[in-house]
Amino acid sequence: MLQVRVKPGVEKKLKSRFPWVYRKEIASYSRTPKKGETVVVRDFSGKFLGYGYINPDVNIAIRLLSFDKNVKPTPELIKKRLKKAYEYRKSLNIPSNAYRLVHSEADFLPGLIVDVYDRWVAVEFTTYGMEEYKQTVVETLIELLQPEGIYEKINEFSKKVEGLRGEEQLLYGHVPEEVVIQEYDLKFYVNIPEGQKTGMFLDQRNARYFLRTLIKGGERVLDVFCHSGGFAISAKKAGAGEVIGVDISDLALELAKKNEKLNGLEGIKWVEANAFDFLKEQHKKGEKYDIVIIDPPSFAKNKAAVPNALRGYKELLVRGLHITKPGGILAIFSCSFHITEQHLLEVLQDAAYDTRKVLRVRAKTYQDLDHPWILQIPNTLYLKGVWVEVLD
Ligand SMILES: C[S@@+](CC[C@H](N)C(=O)[O-])C[C@H]1O[C@@H](n2cnc3c(N)ncnc32)[C@H](O)[C@@H]1O
Repeated sequence: MLQVRVKPGVEKKLKSRFPWVYRKEIASYSRTPKKGETVVVRDFSGKFLGYGYINPDVNIAIRLLSFDKNVKPTPELIKKRLKKAYEYRKSLNIPSNAYRLVHSEADFLPGLIVDVYDRWVAVEFTTYGMEEYKQTVVETLIELLQPEGIYEKINEFSKKVEGLRGEEQLLYGHVPEEVVIQEYDLKFYVNIPEGQKTGMFLDQRNARYFLRTLIKGGERVLDVFCHSGGFAISAKKAGAGEVIGVDISDLALELAKKNEKLNGLEGIKWVEANAFDFLKEQHKKGEKYDIVIIDPPSFAKNKAAVPNALRGYKELLVRGLHITKPGGILAIFSCSFHITEQHLLEVLQDAAYDTRKVLRVRAKTYQDLDHPWILQIPNTLYLKGVWVEVLD
C-alpha cells in the first residue's frame, strides 16, 4: 500500500480525528501515487496515523477512512459504516419518509451523500476515492432498504475538481420523474432526476416546522429562494394569510405549485424572479411582511468567495429588513460552511445599522439531525439560520 508521510505538526489534527490531509501538508510518498488508491498515512517520523484514499491532483488530497491500524479501508468497512448510518437514522424517529442516510464525513464515509425519498434513493459521489466503492455502496443500499430504484446524481463542482467519472444515471431498478414524500403532515413532489441537489432540501425540515410555530393566523409571509415551496407551504398550512414564494427556477416553481395543490392549499403567489431584483422592487413599492424567509443557495464554495458572498448577504438583508413590519420576523440562512453563523450575525448587525432597526434574536436553527454534525469536523456543520424579530 502507498505510504504517505505528513509534515511535522499535521499529525495533531489527525489525532483529533479531523479526516483531511491537504496536498501542501504531504511531506513524501513511498512511490508515485495513483488517483483513488488506498494509502497509509504516517507522521513525519513514520508512526501510523490512519488509512485513507488519495487524489493527488486536488487540494484535499487525502480523506481518511480509519484511524485504527486494525481497521483497513475495505468494501466491508464501507458496508459496516452504511449500516451504522442507517441504524442512527432509525433511532432519530424522523417525521418523514425522506431523509439523509449518509452525510459524507459526518458518517465517516467521506465523499458519499445518500438521500432516501420513500422507496427511492439518490446517491452522490463527490470524490474520486469514494467512487471506487460505488458497487459496494449500491449493493449495500439494496440490502438495507430494498428500494425500487437508486439514481446517481452528479455534483458538477466536485466532478470538475475531482475529475469524477460518473454520469447522472440510474444505478438500480427504476426511478419515476416524480415521487411523493411526506414531511410531518405535508406532502411534497420530488423530482430526483431533474431536481437540484438530490431533489429536495431535506436539511431545512426542522426550520420549516419551526416556521409553523410562529404563525398565529393571517400573517403575510414572503419565502425568498423558495425552491419547491417548503417554507411557503408550511406557512400556509399553519394559517398564514397572503403567502408569496420567489425563485429563479421554473422547474422548482412548477413543483411548488403542484405541492400547494397536493396539500389541498390554494392562493399562494409564486413568482419567477431573481431574488435580488424582487426584493429591491418590493422595497421600492413599500411592501411590508410579517415574516420574511431568505434561504439562498451557497454563495461561497471556498474561502476566496467569502467577501463577495457577504456583500450579497448584506444586500439581501438590507432589503429584507426594510420590508419586514415592526415586530415581524426575518430569517436568514447560510448553507455554505465558509459563511459561518458569526458571519450571519455580523452582516445582520451591519444591515440593522444601515436600516436603523434593532434586532431581537428569536432562534437559531441548524441542519436537521439526519445531517449530523461531528464536533471534530467543523465542515460537517454547513447550514445555519438566524431568526430575528425586527424592532424599530
Ligand atoms: C437553498 S435552496 C432553497 C430551499 C428552500 N427554502 C426549501 O426549503 O426547499 C435555494 C434556491 O434558490 C434558488 N435561486 C438561486 N439563485 C437565485 C436567485 N438569484 N433568485 C432567486 N432564486 C434563486 C434556487 O433555484 C433554489 O431553489
